[in-house]
Amino acid sequence: MANIAPIAFDNNPNDFKDDSLLKFPIGVKLVRVKGCGCKGLRKCTTDKCSNFFQKTECQSRCACGNRKFSKTRKVFKYAVQMAGDNKGWGLFATKRIEAGEFIIAYVGDVITKEEKDRRFEEYKNRGIKHNYMIQAGKYHIDPTFYGNKARFANHCCDPNVIVEKWTMDRAPQGFKALAFVACKPIEEGQEITFNYKFDYNKENAQPCHCDAGNKCNKWIGKAPPKN
Ligand SMILES: C[S@@+](CC[C@H](N)C(=O)[O-])C[C@H]1O[C@@H](n2cnc3c(N)ncnc32)[C@H](O)[C@@H]1O
Ligand SMILES: [Zn+2]
Ligand SMILES: [Zn+2]
Ligand SMILES: [Zn+2]
Repeated sequence: MANIAPIAFDNNPNDFKDDSLLKFPIGVKLVRVKGCGCKGLRKCTTDKCSNFFQKTECQSRCACGNRKFSKTRKVFKYAVQMAGDNKGWGLFATKRIEAGEFIIAYVGDVITKEEKDRRFEEYKNRGIKHNYMIQAGKYHIDPTFYGNKARFANHCCDPNVIVEKWTMDRAPQGFKALAFVACKPIEEGQEITFNYKFDYNKENAQPCHCDAGNKCNKWIGKAPPKN
């Protein structure tokens, strides 16, 4: 990969293909999820639904409301804006978002850990300074060149989003879909952030420039070991 020139990648938020569908590895078996079997109104967005309780999305034939990832959305409450020289682009609320509200799924290429390690080296050699790859069960999601706007969400040590891990219908065994859910109300104009929870790795450790004041850990994820 050494023959590829570094690219001015982070100057343009459109340097990636914006799409809302996860791309699973070719040839991997996609596993079906059973319907929940709930009776009555079948909203199925509370723990009374056995699938919802287990953070498992129902399949379309179930025709219930437990379709966080797959239902077509009409309202989007986020936009990409510059978050500052230290952080690059960020994801910002364009409308108030209530605590507990689903905002967006983290979408990109679904890759194995081995492929993630390979791409990590490749991206480093290409001069890509931002790391977009996140663990998703036994796989990783890579939205570096293909994904949705969730890839712009920055890390914060005191975030307003938690990332829920869900089992999805027609996904590889062991894959977890990642849902951004507000853990507190987010006002219009506020930055949407989550805790990357990266393990410390001196190869890719990055200082944190979040605005959490004395709650900031000074590093994105774990701090370097003392000594
Ligand atoms: C998933 S990307 C977020 C979008 C990125 N800011 C951009 O411009 O495309 C993660 C990268 O953003 C930067 N970043 C995210 N949160 C940060 C923070 N709290 N402080 C400093 N840099 C941050 C780091 O370069 C990190 O590897
Ligand atoms: Zn169902
Ligand atoms: Zn149900
Ligand atoms: Zn911080």
